[in-house]
Amino acid sequence: MRELGVGLIGTGFMGKAHALAYGAVRAVFGDVPALRLEVLCDTPAAKARTMATQFGFARATDNWRDLVDDPRVDVVSITAPNNLHHEIALAAARAGKHIYCEKPLALTLDQATEMEQVAAEAGIKTIVGYNYVKNPAFMHAQSLVGAGAIGDIVHFRGWVDEDYQANPDQPWTWRARISEAGLGALGDLGCHLVSMAVGLVGPVESLIADMQTVHKSRSLADGSGQAPVENEDIATTLVRFVGGVRGSLCASRVAWGRKNRLNWELHGSTGMICFDQERMNELRLYQNTGPLAQQGFKTILTSPEHPPYGSFCPAPGHQLGVNDLKVIELAGFLRHIAGGAPVHPDFSDALEIEKIVHAIAESAQSDARVYV
Ligand SMILES: NC(=O)c1ccc[n+]([C@@H]2O[C@H](COP(=O)([O-])OP(=O)(O)OC[C@H]3O[C@@H](n4cnc5c(N)ncnc54)[C@H](O)[C@@H]3O)[C@@H](O)[C@H]2O)c1
Repeated sequence: MRELGVGLIGTGFMGKAHALAYGAVRAVFGDVPALRLEVLCDTPAAKARTMATQFGFARATDNWRDLVDDPRVDVVSITAPNNLHHEIALAAARAGKHIYCEKPLALTLDQATEMEQVAAEAGIKTIVGYNYVKNPAFMHAQSLVGAGAIGDIVHFRGWVDEDYQANPDQPWTWRARISEAGLGALGDLGCHLVSMAVGLVGPVESLIADMQTVHKSRSLADGSGQAPVENEDIATTLVRFVGGVRGSLCASRVAWGRKNRLNWELHGSTGMICFDQERMNELRLYQNTGPLAQQGFKTILTSPEHPPYGSFCPAPGHQLGVNDLKVIELAGFLRHIAGGAPVHPDFSDALEIEKIVHAIAESAQSDARVYV
């Protein structure tokens, strides 16, 4: 397997998660190509140099175009703010680089569609950071559904709640401006819930939604005044999946007390499965078998029986963390680049997820059912 050179653009929350994954992936999974950490980009240049040293990259730049054009870079991680994804991805694809892009793909569906088309034309490999579907617990839920453990699926209920914008005194950030962030709670959080709903139930046929912005303006961090919050704090949706299953989805970034409550219940004709990302190593399963008096939920704790947990740790119950999901995500991508099986979600799969997310916004804005 040929060594791959890596370029990383953006070193915040997700930049660090990608850097940790690049550092760990070959120690966890022996079957992926060797990596060279070539170029790191951030602004200003001094920050790029500091972070390149910290993350172990050979070179630093404050111009992402230099990184994309660097002949020693084969794979580009896009972990910069949402408004940069489209332009960077088009340039990287046209330069023949494989792309590991954070979600959401872009600010608008038109941009996301162009990214998918340009990547397909360039013949490069892509993956998008919908990391929660890489959780061994989630993959076990999919296996349980496939094996008929809860019968026929009848209903999906999902919430994704955080409280990072609940405090009205929280200063304004780029996440509140449509030209920089795109959608609000939907683009930040709701898209993860949609990725899981689709992974469990299948594509969405149509939906009807409502949105609200609770805190309509926020103080600027430098104390110079207020700026408007242009996107939604909360989105609530009723969904019809292709095939007839119904469901509900709710996303909020102003839900006090909730830190990452990416939570769903999958109701079947003979049982149900529940998941909560705040307890990401557990699935709760109810099956209507045996005497009624002995029926109840059981908690399944992830273990080496739930691949690829065992690649991290031989002992059950010791638990994975969210950064491990990035290692699993990256491993699949590197195998795909090396000629292995396709990965989910690539740009094409992510576009399908984001069509649903934008349909939610469209429905709320038009006050009407939208067909996806
Ligand atoms: N997969 C997930 O669970 C998850 C979680 C959080 C964020 N995200 C996504 O990751 C992306 C980044 O979010 P974040 O939370 O890491 O943001 P962040 O603000 O923590 O980090 C953004 C980084 O990009 C850098 N940057 C800004 N402009 C740049 C430029 N022109 N060139 C190079 N670097 C530049 C910033 O200096 C910063 O280091 C977003 O698209 C976000 O939606 C995904």
